[in-house]
Amino acid sequence: MIKTIEYQGGLARMIDQTRLPREKVFVDCRTIEEVGRAIQDLVIRGAPAIGVAAAIGVSLGANAIEANTFEAFYARLEHQCDALAKARPTAANLAWGIERMKRTARKHRHLPVAEIKERLRQEALAVVEEDIQINRKIGGHGQALLKEESVVLTHCNAGALATAGYGTALGVVRAAVEAGKRVNVLANETRPFFQGSRLTVWELMEDGIPVKLITDGMSGYFMMKQQVDAVVVGADRIAANGDVANKIGTYMVAALAHRHGIPFYVAAPVSTLDLTIASGEAIPIEEREGEEVVNVAGQSIAPEGTVAAYPAFDITPHALVTAIITENGIARPPFDESLKRLTETG
Ligand code: MRU
Repeated sequence: MIKTIEYQGGLARMIDQTRLPREKVFVDCRTIEEVGRAIQDLVIRGAPAIGVAAAIGVSLGANAIEANTFEAFYARLEHQCDALAKARPTAANLAWGIERMKRTARKHRHLPVAEIKERLRQEALAVVEEDIQINRKIGGHGQALLKEESVVLTHCNAGALATAGYGTALGVVRAAVEAGKRVNVLANETRPFFQGSRLTVWELMEDGIPVKLITDGMSGYFMMKQQVDAVVVGADRIAANGDVANKIGTYMVAALAHRHGIPFYVAAPVSTLDLTIASGEAIPIEEREGEEVVNVAGQSIAPEGTVAAYPAFDITPHALVTAIITENGIARPPFDESLKRLTETG
């Protein structure tokens, strides 16, 4: 199995996702600041993987703090966490991972600082393991929605590389294949960072799961030709009403799926739900440098001086979402009620 991120020997080791598929190299982060930079630079990306990296980052940060009292220790930890939380704004899992670690520190406040650091290390390791288990559960629930023979269209990478392993949307595909179903994946290339062509295609090929690469603009064509049975994507943040923030272009795919009567499924862990936010309107959308749109693999694809925009995510309104697949089960409309129920059943 692809191990996206590991925590061992006092460092976070992650596959450098900026360099796949050309080379499989690892980046070692020894400090919380290095983890923050890796998240910002998309060395590690995908909401659940960001949450896992954050938890490990907080443990690394804690290890570097010299303090004799819980109060002094916690004040410095909070300061480091505030900086880490700014690495990327959209994925709910970043704040989730940080908050889980802060809670762990507070829970053990009565222990000596060295012991609190050890508890934080154990918690970060638990987050890594749990993420894989959660994805397997999502896969188990989600695969039941796919027919014996299905073409699944996906956008971006919500696979093993976007999590600690197995994946959310691609976890559904993997679980269906494990259940003996014949699944073919159509992967949108996902401009401008090419998570689809570089990462989704790479990891499915590693597992021998049939995958065909298409450009983002081709999805409507294949839907119209009735060559797509279901769309399955991941999410960066899901609001209380079921509006979904995911990679830029997801909304376009959802609108087309709706137009053609194709089910549009979102696979995500409960840690991606943000029920404090009523609707997608309030979800912060990351704006990245237009430069990243103009330059592809180190080559400029537009005239010098081109002004480009790069909102990294969009919002898919809940009316276009058929179901949201979580580790606690499947939520269907009305999502205000079903999502709330699912968080309570955990
Ligand atoms: O900018 P990225 O690559 O971090 O965006 C990732 C996505 O949009 C994924 O679909 C989402 O985080 C879900 S990953 C299981």
